[in-house]
Amino acid sequence: RIAGPSGLVIFGVTGDLSRKKLMPAVYDLANRGLLPPGFSLIGFARREWVNEDFASVVHDSVKEYARTPFREEVWRQLAEGMRFVSGVFDDDEAFVTLRSTIEQLDKERGTGGNFAFYLSVPPKFFPTVVRQLKKHGLADAPAGSWRRAVIEKPFGHDLGSARELNQVVHEVFQPSDVFRIDHYLGKETVQNILALRFANTMFEPIWNRSYVDHVQITMAEDIGIGGRAGYYDGIGAARDVIQNHLLQLLALTAMEEPSSFDADALVTEKLKVLSAVKLPEDLGRHTVRGQYTGGWQGGQKVLGYLEEEGIDPASATDTYAAMRLEIDNRRWAGVPFYLRTGKRLGRRVTEIAVVFQRAPYSPFDATDTQELGHNALVIRVQPDEGVTVRFGSKVPGTQMEIRDVTMDFAYGESFTESSPEAYERLLLDVLLGDANLFPRHQEVERSWEILDPVEEFWAGHGRPEPYTAGTWGPAKADEMLARDGRSWRRP
Ligand code: BG6
Repeated sequence: RIAGPSGLVIFGVTGDLSRKKLMPAVYDLANRGLLPPGFSLIGFARREWVNEDFASVVHDSVKEYARTPFREEVWRQLAEGMRFVSGVFDDDEAFVTLRSTIEQLDKERGTGGNFAFYLSVPPKFFPTVVRQLKKHGLADAPAGSWRRAVIEKPFGHDLGSARELNQVVHEVFQPSDVFRIDHYLGKETVQNILALRFANTMFEPIWNRSYVDHVQITMAEDIGIGGRAGYYDGIGAARDVIQNHLLQLLALTAMEEPSSFDADALVTEKLKVLSAVKLPEDLGRHTVRGQYTGGWQGGQKVLGYLEEEGIDPASATDTYAAMRLEIDNRRWAGVPFYLRTGKRLGRRVTEIAVVFQRAPYSPFDATDTQELGHNALVIRVQPDEGVTVRFGSKVPGTQMEIRDVTMDFAYGESFTESSPEAYERLLLDVLLGDANLFPRHQEVERSWEILDPVEEFWAGHGRPEPYTAGTWGPAKADEMLARDGRSWRRP
């Protein structure tokens, strides 16, 4: 899988995402020999840089963030194809320059007219940028070549705005030429959910309401909102990651087996299961949002959300969100899926825990099994990538005492191959036109449809619950599960 002649244009190239993820990913792909020799990278932003300034920023970002070692000859070849176009998004002149830059690169470096336009910009600029691409003939691929749009999240802030954005984008690009980024789908461990479930025989027979008690999907972060106040305030945890990453994880965990591993078959199954997701009736009992207050983390004193730079001191933005969802279908009816995410939690961990029911009958004395919990299968998405199975085992000794033990698969121990970074994988897929790992607009809209009532409910019901930085979220979240006779895992 090596990309053919092509180039990439990044709008918003001076942003954090571009510096920390996109530029290093381009370099890593080049370094692994997955890009064509004439590959070209065009940065578009307001700064008044010339090509050399841009190349030097890419150089620094590669040095700091690339996964693969720095090799001068790879860098030199890549740098020769770097161009910078300075302008604002409604500036026609800048788009004329962009067009001539692309045409020139086609001639000089053999990019073949194949360009992907990466919109790493706030969503309010999406319409302007795609319309400018249309107006200046950049969205129409010359015969025999392709033009693709790559769109970063957040894709809207509710169903209405997502629909509007989809409409604008589809006026300009064919749906099959639009790649919406959900970087969780680019993660190795997330793709492995499907391998685990559908390449094996031992899991699927018990992957249903007859055996599963509930599922917990956790995405915990130890970081605060850092320098992202402008983006995060008013958006919050649920819109930031539940609408996309967590609902995608839920879809992959709960969906039926697709008829093949191609984009159409996958989207059919993901959409089917997302359509069956049901919110609880009593949102006050089954959803919780929180906001971190100052505390200690990793031996360091950290600020509360309201004291962070750029945050409205009266902000009611959630930095923690948890909710119970159900899936109305034959496989899952009655099985709760608990989702939770938060900033400034105990540690950084993303995992999916499938928690099984207890044995219907135990031949052992209750005292012998008091240290036996529920069997569980935990997909450890990050940082300690792998899978854990938890089950009961006899404690060595003269008594029949049973205690929980675990059986572990760790990527680092089983594989010598290193995982590409999520953005690396996804950028390569864009250049190859492979859409398997990209959510379609119907999934995005359905996800907003699920989340909108929760956001509306929260907006009309006071403030988020405070929780101290470095803890596992508000007490209300524990109560929410306790009422169901369950508890959150402490990963
Ligand atoms: C992004 C969110 O999509 O995912 C961020 O906007 C979050 O708020 C990030 O920090 C987490 O990504 P990862 O890959 O570090 O889990």
